[in-house]
Amino acid sequence: MTLRSVIVGTGMSVPDRVVTNRDLEARMDTSDEWIQQRSGIRERRHIAEGETPSGLAEVAARRALEAAGCGVEDLDGIVLATLSPEADFPGTSFFLHERLGADTIPCFDLRAQCSGFLYSLSVADGMIRSGQMRRLLVLGCEVHSTGLDMSTEGRDVAVLFGDGAGAVVVEGAEGGADDAGILAVRIHAEGRHARRLWIEAPGSGHYPVRVTPEILAEGRHWPHMEGRYVFKHAVTRMPEVLGETLDTAGIKADDVDLFLFHQANLRINEAVIQALGIPHVKCPSNIQRYGNCSAASIPMLLDEAQRGGHLEPGNIVAMTAFGSGFTWGSVVVRW
Ligand code: COA
Repeated sequence: MTLRSVIVGTGMSVPDRVVTNRDLEARMDTSDEWIQQRSGIRERRHIAEGETPSGLAEVAARRALEAAGCGVEDLDGIVLATLSPEADFPGTSFFLHERLGADTIPCFDLRAQCSGFLYSLSVADGMIRSGQMRRLLVLGCEVHSTGLDMSTEGRDVAVLFGDGAGAVVVEGAEGGADDAGILAVRIHAEGRHARRLWIEAPGSGHYPVRVTPEILAEGRHWPHMEGRYVFKHAVTRMPEVLGETLDTAGIKADDVDLFLFHQANLRINEAVIQALGIPHVKCPSNIQRYGNCSAASIPMLLDEAQRGGHLEPGNIVAMTAFGSGFTWGSVVVRW
């Protein structure tokens, strides 16, 4: 018997406002056909005035807590992954902490972009197995819509991203090899690609101030992405890290019941699925409805799988992501 980290509750939340590809056609030179063919996306959600990242995170968190059968007073800590913080500092998690009324438990934002949720699970797993904490709330939460260039200039990125939040409660439990819990985690990064997918400003790398009228005029405050470059790395790194994590867990790919891939682009996932020769039925997707919600994509997918009745106790779930940094990782769980 060893101490392992068990996911005991899931939740998600998206804004009500649906933005279809046709809606985007009205704002920039793009087409429903181009977007669907290149990415699989049909629509995404954008916040309306008055909605905030911590508001989305709160709904996802409360759903996860309810599913776990515990209250905020039962938590020892909160880890929230985001690349779109509510304020540059302190981030998003502190506003969530306030909304939840979380007394004085620690919380922090974790920045590993689209791999952020898996990095956060890795941190939670370490906290639990080292005995520092018993139960944590782990979230991915993004509001991309307020940071996208909605003109034709920004169309390559703007059409891909959406807003949403996903949450899980992770709890320590003594168990054997056949019991529920995280079986293996592998995370990686390669900083030399950081400028291939990033937002340059505002940033403390700029002197003497973090953003200037020139930077704004040049559009360097919008996300910049070298799409094909990112694509090539994603389709290599995702199968690689998934294989590495399954090996560590001692699980064969055939024995995985559900593969949850980061929802960046349906074509990336098609390429990964084909390379691994895994059945489509084991690879749910929600990018068609939500776009790329970065750190929130995988926990949203997990919540949909759980609430949709696609997960049973004992199932093996393999979650794999790739994103800006570059970062990538995989987590294999027995449900
Ligand atoms: N609507 C219409 N046309 C668009 C467009 C849009 N939204 N965005 C770009 N285009 C145009 C380009 O300007 C280009 O036109 P040109 O040939 O006249 O120059 C053409 O479409 C092809 O662009 P390209 O970038 O070569 O397309 P692509 O086949 O590589 O697909 C992505 C673009 C972004 C869909 C693809 O590269 C991708 O998915 N990359 C990975 C992105 C990703 O996963 N990011 C997040 C990682 S976490």
